[in-house]
Amino acid sequence: MDMEQYIDELRKRREIAHGTAKDIEAQHGKHRLTARERLELLFDPGTFTEIDSLVIPRFESYMGGKGSRYGDGVVTGFGLVNGRHAIAAAQDASVLGGSLGEMHANKIVKAMRMALQYGCPFIALNDSGGARIQEGVDSLGGYARIFDANCEASGVIPQISVIMGPCAGGAVYSPALTDFVFMTENSYMFITGPDVVKAVMQEEVSLEDLGGGRVHSTASGVCHFLTKDDRDCLNQVRLLLSYLPSNNQDDPPYVRPVDDGERRCPELEQIVPVDPYKPYDVRQVIGSIVDDGRFLEVHQLWAENMVVGYARLNGYVVGIVANQPMVLAGCIDIHASIKAAHFIRICDAYNVPIITLQDVPGFLPGKDQEYGGIIRNGARMIYAYSEATVPKLMVILRKSYGGAYCVMSSKGLRGDLLYAWPNAEIAVMGAEGAVNILFRNEVKAAADPAARRKELIDDYQRKFNNPYVAAARGLIDEVIEPRDTRRVLIRALELTLAKRERHAPKKHGISPA
Ligand code: HXC
Repeated sequence: MDMEQYIDELRKRREIAHGTAKDIEAQHGKHRLTARERLELLFDPGTFTEIDSLVIPRFESYMGGKGSRYGDGVVTGFGLVNGRHAIAAAQDASVLGGSLGEMHANKIVKAMRMALQYGCPFIALNDSGGARIQEGVDSLGGYARIFDANCEASGVIPQISVIMGPCAGGAVYSPALTDFVFMTENSYMFITGPDVVKAVMQEEVSLEDLGGGRVHSTASGVCHFLTKDDRDCLNQVRLLLSYLPSNNQDDPPYVRPVDDGERRCPELEQIVPVDPYKPYDVRQVIGSIVDDGRFLEVHQLWAENMVVGYARLNGYVVGIVANQPMVLAGCIDIHASIKAAHFIRICDAYNVPIITLQDVPGFLPGKDQEYGGIIRNGARMIYAYSEATVPKLMVILRKSYGGAYCVMSSKGLRGDLLYAWPNAEIAVMGAEGAVNILFRNEVKAAADPAARRKELIDDYQRKFNNPYVAAARGLIDEVIEPRDTRRVLIRALELTLAKRERHAPKKHGISPA
């Protein structure tokens, strides 16, 4: 054979790997892109470089006599995302439904280990019928190796799972072990499918209702980003990566700011009502403080009483954790605590400073919360704040009551620089509640109980419900005017970026369950 013939043979094999026009059409017919089209959108144009494209399944007979489709149902490789290296695996639904066999799993694990070794993010694009039935236990073993690689890489390189088709059975645990899960509206995840639910529970349920993107974004919290379609989804993955470092040894990407670091924000004085009972949207506060008003919210549709996400301050990436007074008055409940704790741990792992904006009346009361384990779940947030060694800055915008004060970046949890607005109320509880408990008998015995009660409330308000008691103890570092919030945070951030803190040596801590 001459060189031309050798090259010809290689090209033919590659063509087989890419699938036929019919395969591509079938995928488009489901309003989904093919694995390679997705990778082209994920990576900077023309930078995706495939590896292992000529891998074939362990036993060709699995292909039902149709001949080998090189690649074994998953496309792996590397390229640039926003100019930085990343590694990805995209399941190819046109090969045995994207099902996972032994070699398919080997390819994914190899790509993950490369990402870990070379310190770059790993992105898995899932579109698969799950364990390849014909490969039995070899397939199950493959999943276990993927899970293990997920755990090994956890906290070292950012891991992102993108669900763009089915993701069923135990296959869901790889995404669940990664840092972020994206879903398209046209995708679903479940442990047990509708047929099993019907057989065991005698309950009819549709695929969308059981595990569609919306369900996992609003009810289960499995999904962090719900996206319209493949294209929108991959754009958002690229945006998220622009806030993350390549690995835990790097700093997150600094962007030369356009916004003025000394900019005052007088609008904050209107956005936050002084009346503690009036709600407002804390995202407006965030928008006012951060560079160019840009905020990438994570978990936007779940536990909406806590807002978390990424932004920049004078060009530096920060993670924001904020109570949302518009939902449940900003009370902390089980989901809010889990959401904040997970986000804080991701920020800490990837050297992203944490800015906490507090306006919180306390923990959500009630039997549901107690039975659901608000005690152990609330503890997760404490653990995460305490464990975090990145700069921790905080601003109390209005209410800071009770346990909620302690658990959100307080001095006791080694918060670095903490601020309060002059209207802040920092106390064990609100004035009315306190008077009801402390002065019940005195109010009852008064000639005019209503007048006495009001007098006592005003007195409590003056004595305790202000930022000056905390300032007098050094429990906050300064009381600031709302309009100065951005510039003060930037100055504090630029000082604390140099922070280096280490934990006492231990194998690992034990986060509350
Ligand atoms: C082998 C599979 C397969 C699988 C699909 N195919 N799933 N082959 N193993 N798990 C094959 C089909 O036989 C078909 O082959 C081709 O892929 C396309 O499948 P269709 O059903 O025609 O496609 P579609 O209608 O789009 O439906 C896709 C699907 C469905 C929803 C994924 O195929 C499905 O329900 N598959 C089974 C899902 C499942 O129960 N998996 C096991 C989950 S348990 P031909 O030759 O006809 O083109 C699990 C355990 C993991 O995964 C444990 C980890 C610890």
